[in-house]
Formats: sequence, C-alpha cells, structure tokens
Amino acid sequence: MKINERLKKIGDLVPLSSYPLDIGCDHALLSIYLVKEKGIKKAIASDNKSGPLQKAKENINFYKVNDKIKLVKAEGLASYEEGIDTITISGMGGLNINKIIDNHKKLLKNINTLILSPNNYSIAVKRKLIKLGYHIINEQLVKDKNIIYQILVFTKGKKYYSYKKMFLGPILMTKKDELTKEYYKNLLDNKKKLLQSLPKSFRKKIRLTKKEIKYLEDIINT
Ligand SMILES: C[S@@+](CC[C@H](N)C(=O)[O-])C[C@H]1O[C@@H](n2cnc3c(N)ncnc32)[C@H](O)[C@@H]1O
Repeated sequence: MKINERLKKIGDLVPLSSYPLDIGCDHALLSIYLVKEKGIKKAIASDNKSGPLQKAKENINFYKVNDKIKLVKAEGLASYEEGIDTITISGMGGLNINKIIDNHKKLLKNINTLILSPNNYSIAVKRKLIKLGYHIINEQLVKDKNIIYQILVFTKGKKYYSYKKMFLGPILMTKKDELTKEYYKNLLDNKKKLLQSLPKSFRKKIRLTKKEIKYLEDIINT
C-alpha cells in the first residue's frame, strides 16, 4: 500500500501483538498499514472531525479492511475502548498532544505504549509523559519532504532524566548517523537565531538558550 516514510516508521514501532488506537487518524493510513501490512488483528482509528473520517472511511473501504478497523468520531482519548494498550498520535503540535493526554489521564493505566510524533514542543511532551510515569524506550527521526520529524516511544516505568538528556533526547544523543547530525544542526541554527532575537531583559531564557547551544555544539563536534 502507499504510505509515506514517516507513517511507516511510526507503524513499524507499534508492538505486533498490540491493540492500537490512532488519535487524529485523518486518512487512517497508519491503522490500515498496521492491519494490512503488519498483521495486527484489529485497530481503532479516531478523529474529532467529519471530513477526515469520511476520507478514512473511503480508504478503509478501498483497502478492504472494514472488519479490522473501527472508525470513531471522538475528541482525543474519548475514543478509548477496553483492550486498547497502545496509542499513536502524530502530525499534531506537542501542546495539543499534551492536552489530549491530560484530558483522560485515568485511561493511561491500561496503556503500555505511547508512540508520539509531535510537530513541535517535544520537550513538553517528554516532560508530560515522564511525569505520568512513563519513560522513553525509543527515539527515531524521519525525513519527509525535507522536514525532520521526531518519533518518541514511551512505556511504563519511572526514570530520571537530566535537562541535557531531555533536550538532546536520551537515545538520540547516542546516535551518530547523518540524519541525527542534521537534526541537531538545524536545532542549533534555530537556537542561535532565537538567541539573537531575545530582548536583554529575558535573562533566564538567554541563559537556557546559551546552555542549549553549548549542548548542541558539543554533540555536533564529538
Ligand atoms: C495533520 S493531521 C495528522 C494525521 C496523521 N495522524 C498523520 O500523522 O499524518 C491531524 C489530525 O488530527 C485531528 N485532531 C486534531 N486534534 C484532535 C483531537 N483533539 N482529537 C481527535 N483528533 C484530533 C485533526 O482533525 C486531523 O485530522
């Protein structure tokens, strides 16, 4: 089936024996990939808007996987059903992801794995999940149409992370491949631009940004 590299990579991180729920499914291609190509028995794909769900329905019909995917119109985690143990949320801002999680925190007791790919504010997402008793077991990058996306995999378990690890990514910072280097270089450029634009009165933010620039320069140059 036709699926972009980003969604494929997210799909490849979903545990094969899981019952996954994709929140903000849009076209439902991730859930279709899981049941059609990865052998996952059943999945839920949900969205809070009718337009995307119509598109999802057409794709599910096209790929003839109606018996394996349940489509649900719901706000965030309200689409949860008993047995769901894995949640995927991608292609949204990090603060929206945090809001979705915050609104139904109690349901997390049944969720072993969350695979989250925020478009921004990834540190805020990491902080939220760590506070809720998860730790990071995988961090992946994927480049699609010249944009580098982060994919974070969380599972239950408490762990302490220093700010440096939270910022660079505890797993990402151990990688030496070209895409990781490019990701850090882009981040360094953005942080340098930010530093230039900060008013002198923003002392705390200036200190933090300088620290982040140092972390990035060190990791790029080692
Ligand atoms: C940009 S699309 C991303 C689609 C897909 N997950 C991906 O990564 O390609 C975001 C989708 O999330 C849906 N969405 C945004 N906020 C939501 C929420 N609170 N609950 C459910 N769906 C939401 C939108 O309607 C939209 O279809």
